[in-house]
Formats: sequence, C-alpha cells, structure tokens
Amino acid sequence: MPQSKVGSAQTSPTLPTPAHGVRWTTPIVETPGIVVLGSWIWRLVRFLVTLPFRFPVTVACLSASAGAWWWFDWPGPASLWGLAAVVSLVWWRAWPDTYRTWVTLRLLAWWRHVFVYRRHWQPVLVISGLAESYQERRYLPRIRRVTCSEWADYVRVTLVAGTAPADFETRVAELAHGFQAPSCRVVVDGPRRITLEFPRHDTLAEPLDALDVPDTADLTALPVGRCEDGSPWLLRLHGTHVLAAGVTGSGKGSVIWSAVRAMLPAIADRTVQVWALDPKRMELSYGRDLFAHYADDGESAVALLELAVADMQNRARRYAGKQRSHVPGRKDPFVLVVIDEVAFLTAYHPDRDVRRRAENAIATLTSQGRSVGFSVLAALQDPRKEVMNLRNLFPDKVALRLDEASQVDMILGEGARDRGGNAHLIHPTLPGVAYVRMETSPAPVRVRAAYVSDDDITAMTNAYGSASFSGGESS
Ligand SMILES: Nc1ncnc2c1ncn2[C@@H]1O[C@H](COP(=O)(O)OP(=O)(O)O)[C@@H](O)[C@H]1O
Ligand SMILES: [Mg+2]
Repeated sequence: MPQSKVGSAQTSPTLPTPAHGVRWTTPIVETPGIVVLGSWIWRLVRFLVTLPFRFPVTVACLSASAGAWWWFDWPGPASLWGLAAVVSLVWWRAWPDTYRTWVTLRLLAWWRHVFVYRRHWQPVLVISGLAESYQERRYLPRIRRVTCSEWADYVRVTLVAGTAPADFETRVAELAHGFQAPSCRVVVDGPRRITLEFPRHDTLAEPLDALDVPDTADLTALPVGRCEDGSPWLLRLHGTHVLAAGVTGSGKGSVIWSAVRAMLPAIADRTVQVWALDPKRMELSYGRDLFAHYADDGESAVALLELAVADMQNRARRYAGKQRSHVPGRKDPFVLVVIDEVAFLTAYHPDRDVRRRAENAIATLTSQGRSVGFSVLAALQDPRKEVMNLRNLFPDKVALRLDEASQVDMILGEGARDRGGNAHLIHPTLPGVAYVRMETSPAPVRVRAAYVSDDDITAMTNAYGSASFSGGESS
C-alpha cells in the first residue's frame, strides 16, 4: 500500500536550542498558607450563609430534627424530620425546576408578607375605611397567610365579627392602590374568611397574537384569548348567547374574530355555519367568504335575522317530541348569528319598522335558539337600557372597556364592579382586555382576547373560505 504523502511529510518539531545552554522553566510560587486558609473559610461561610436560601426546606427540616432531638429528646419526630430533609434533597435532585420555583415563591411570599402586607396592613385598612385608627389590634382583620403564584399574591384574611366580605369588595380600588397592585379581587372562602388577590404586574399588558387554529372545535370551550392567571380563556357558544360590550376601539372585533377562528375546523367540515350581520360594513366584510350568509345593511340584516328565526323554528318543529338537545352535524349545523354593532339595528336605524323587526327577531332567537343549535354573538357599544333592552336575553357577557362605572353592573350583573370588575378602568392602550364571569368564579375574571389581524383573516379566508360550505349570500 503506498504511503500517504501527508503522513510521510510530517516530521517531529524540534525545540529551539536554549541560548547559552540555559533551559527556562515556569517558576513555582507557593501560595502562603494563610491565604489558602482564608479562602477556604470564606467559601465555607458563603456556603453556610446561602444554604438556608438554597435549601430552605432541607435546612428547616434538619433544624426541626436537631431541635426535637436536642431539647425534647424525641427520637420519633427527630427521625421523621430527618427523613423529610432527605426527601427534600431527593426532590431537588430529581425535579430541580419545580423545586426552585417552589422555593422562590415561598421566599417571595415570606418577603411580601413581612415587608408589604403586614407592614402596611393597618394604615391601608384605616385609610381605605375598613378599620378605625383607634381600634385595638384584635378588631383589625387578621392576615392568616400570604402565598404567591408566578403572577399574583394571595392574602388570606380573617374578618372581624360584624364585618362582611362586601365591605372589602367595595374597597378593591383603595386596596389595590394601598398595596401598589394593578388591581385587587376578593374571593370569599367561607364564613369570615376571604382571600385578596393582588396581581404583581399586568400579565395582559402585551397583545396576544391570533391563537393557533385548533384541530377540532369544542363549541363549549373555544380558545379565544388568555386569562390574567395565564390559563386559556375558553368561550362557550353552543347552548348560550354572548354579548360583547365596549366603547369604540375596545376590541370587540377581536372577540368576534377569535371565536370565528377557533371554529374554523367545524366551519370547514360544515358542522358550523356563521351568519354575519355587519351594519357598519367595517368589521366582518373582510372575511365574508367564511360566512354562510352575510348582510350589511338594515333591510338585508333584518331579512337575514328573520330567515334565522324561520330556520330555527323549523328545526324546533322537527325536534318536538323526538329530540331535546342539539348535536352539531352536517344536516343540522350549529348556527352562530354574529351581529356587529347590534344597536345600529335595534336603536339607531332610521326606519322604525326595521328596528322593531330586528328586536323581535333577536328576542326570538335568543329566547328559543339555545336548545336547537342557534346562538347569537352580538357586539354592542352602549349598554344602557334604552339602547339595548334585550341585554338580559344573553346569558354570557364580555365587558370590554366601558365609558362609565355604572355600565359594569349592566353588563356583568349586580355587584360585578364591587367585586373588582373594573371594566371602566381598562386603559385605552389595552384593546381586547375585558372582564368576564366564569362558572368557576363569582368574581369577574380579567381576560384578553387574541388579536386576529387583517393578514390572519386573509389567511383564514384563503384556507377555509367559501369552498368549505354550501351557503349563499343574502345581500
Ligand atoms: N385583542 C387585541 N389585542 C391588541 N390590539 C387589539 C385587540 N383588539 C383590537 N385591537 C386594536 O384595537 C383596534 C380597534 O379594535 P376593534 O376590534 O376594531 O374595536 P371595536 O370593534 O371595539 O371598535 C384594532 O384596530 C387593533 O389595532
Ligand atoms: Mg368593531
């Protein structure tokens, strides 16, 4: 086998001959013993000082174990605490992330308890009118415990006899300011026990991009945005009607479009039809190919509403005595009637006959449509009674930014504002932020709808447009 050229060309490097025969070596300087000792002591002190912060659980368990052994001479509890210390170390080794998060939140809770809540508790309660300055401490509501999640502090409070959670509910704005939180929510835990929830920062400050289109559409829990605690905001449409209220620019369009986007798979497989009424011709015209029917002026909108009523009544007649609830299918799709700026039809339209017919049709749809698979999703600017007296026919409501404090209870129901549903305080720079009532929580929950941009709508129309269903246009 011929030898490799490269291999044969390699020669071992020769070291330069030292001048005058002197060979240089690296001088060895010995560190003085005192410096080595000092460095070791410094490391040990640093280790011991940071130990309780890095391993607070282990240190606490070991201290309890030593205390039980030393002072009380209890071998049983001492060994149990010792075992707990070992378990905590195993936890740290096996799941370092959850361990770190848990420890960080515990330390943060301790810090917030001592330096924020306990420190300012009495002055804030006195100034906000929840306690008197001359009261003895035993008449001051007592902080039982403070815990922290990644985004909020939870202050568990025991009320003094003779006070009610409602006293705190009416002072949420003062409490939020007092403890420098963006908001405050009161959750009633039981008799004389409440939890005050203080977000540490606004988790909804950043706009949310349009969510991914789900593989299947769950019409009872459509992902349309995010809740303040980071969980998805799931909107129910099947079996209910939804009213989204907010001033111009509050982001009503993003609620509508996020809902349509979450239903796309069902629109494509023809188990859902969206009928769109767009009297302002601004909001929905962009994606009209996604809709089974579309109407954009008063006359055609009313005609479309009446068509929906007729279809609904036909279906109800077919179901009578045979079927009690609706299951979406190709034969009987779920029909969502989307009405942007509903007051334009029911209050502002110049033709009295159009207003009356629109109101009648919406009232019929909302009172009879739920069980046969017809729902209404309506957007409204002004929730006052004279403008929209059909408000109460919508079981679910979304309060985006509102003009006046008094409008919050009109939308979210009695007492919603007192419980922290401050839709009138939503900042104009936060379109899409809203308060909603969830089945799981009596207090309104702050949410933000995902923003479906014009480009998203174009992409949705291209992918799921009119080829996907067999509807015609009424206008
Ligand atoms: N969820 C949202 N997140 C971020 N920005 C939004 C959101 N919704 C709306 N916006 C912004 O606010 C503007 C007004 O929203 P729009 O839905 O037209 O309000 P409305 O229908 O209530 O008058 C939009 O053009 C958009 O720039
Ligand atoms: Mg709009």
